[in-house]
Amino acid sequence: MMSSDQMGLGDGALADHPGAPPSRVPASVAMVFQHLAHVLDSSVRSSPSVPVPIREFAAEHCGVAPGEMVCASEDLSALTTQLVGRVLGRLLHAHEHAPAGVAVRGVDDNDPPHWERLVVDGHVEMIPSSMAAAFPSGAITEAPVVLVLEERYGDRQISVWSARAHAEQGYTVLQEILERARTVDNPFRGKVLEATIEMNRGLVFRAPKPPTAERHRLVLPDALWEEIDLNVHGLFANLERLQAADLGTNRGLLLVGPPGTGKTWICKVLAAELAGEVTVVFCSARAVTHCIGLIYEEVKWLAPALVVIEDIDLIVPNRAHAQSGLLQEFLLALDGAMTSHGGVVTVATTNAVDSIDDAAKRAARFDRILEVPKPTEEGRRKILKTYLDPLGAGVRASVDVQRVAALTEGATGAELRELVRLAVLHTDGVVSTEILVRLANDGAASTAPGMYL
Ligand SMILES: Nc1ncnc2c1ncn2[C@@H]1O[C@H](COP(=O)(O)OP(=O)(O)OP(=O)(O)O)[C@@H](O)[C@H]1O
Ligand SMILES: [Mg+2]
Repeated sequence: MMSSDQMGLGDGALADHPGAPPSRVPASVAMVFQHLAHVLDSSVRSSPSVPVPIREFAAEHCGVAPGEMVCASEDLSALTTQLVGRVLGRLLHAHEHAPAGVAVRGVDDNDPPHWERLVVDGHVEMIPSSMAAAFPSGAITEAPVVLVLEERYGDRQISVWSARAHAEQGYTVLQEILERARTVDNPFRGKVLEATIEMNRGLVFRAPKPPTAERHRLVLPDALWEEIDLNVHGLFANLERLQAADLGTNRGLLLVGPPGTGKTWICKVLAAELAGEVTVVFCSARAVTHCIGLIYEEVKWLAPALVVIEDIDLIVPNRAHAQSGLLQEFLLALDGAMTSHGGVVTVATTNAVDSIDDAAKRAARFDRILEVPKPTEEGRRKILKTYLDPLGAGVRASVDVQRVAALTEGATGAELRELVRLAVLHTDGVVSTEILVRLANDGAASTAPGMYL
């Protein structure tokens, strides 16, 4: 619900308002309507972002003088703008063949309506990002109304214009659109999302095709999976219980380990496993750097949610030239963001736990710090098998996995995968123990961090 503060409404007398409801309405309700009409009216006067021509356009559509128009409006976040745009797009679509039609125009005089791409599950949908749409009476409410979605320099707003006599309907339309956008028509709930920054737009969310990473292909110590399950799946499974007992429903998990040990893949496995019940948000480094608080603000509409922040130690140098103390400062900001909403698990990854000092780790509420180690010899054997087995029965039978595993002490999962890839390139798929041994001895598969695909 909007508060009067959010609407930017002022005080004022209730008496002799021209929008007084008919007398059959009980007196107490009439008072509410009167007040509502009045405060909506005053929001028009105090709303500098709505240009006058829209008011005239709306007045003409509603068949009254511009002075008789009122406007209910609400500021929107980046996410809610996308969601409201989607609802508006659907309303336009639903009424495009209506006899009276829907008149659409740009928000400024010479500006056309703007549309943008919304990606959900890899499907692209065009949604309005800035436009005014005049709906005739009976289309979305009994009265004629004009919906205005505006986005200027990062400030976003939805407004519903109506004749003062129909202020209540206008207000109700606004509430219903916001409610519908955030709940039943919210396509982002339970999806795997990317939070990124776009030029001129700021923080936006997309839902690309969800990852299909499977846990059984990632070879990690059982104890590590148990910890991950306890801290992530366990929290979501016990949300109601924790909530009821006021025990806190947020959690932070820091995955620490050398490059190429599977940290990113763990996040993808979690995303694939949780999607549907839980919204998963992968945050780009820029989004984290510039909008950490906003990301968590948005996530409150999407909870229960898993927020993934990769390579957290690299984000801070990007942001402020790697000076000491900045990581701590950043983690403190993250702490505030992480703890202010419920039902959110944050998983962050890093190669360099040493660069994060103990106090900051505590402050940022990383309840658990889990090491993702390089594989043991047995782990290397299993990883090699994972990548060699799909090459066929011949390769499975002939390659001495034990020997290759013994030779590759210190190799990460990413390097072992690269070793098999190189062997395939050298042999057209007829991989042998000899080629694997030769490549391993040459160190051909050792990769610099971030070099593997
Ligand atoms: N334990 C493992 N079992 C099987 N495959 C692995 C394992 N570790 C890494 N890999 C393979 O290596 C690839 C790269 O791993 P990943 O991107 O998860 O590493 P990372 O730990 O996130 O590295 P960085 O710290 O550089 O980001 C994975 O997609 C996977 O194919
Ligand atoms: Mg990674």
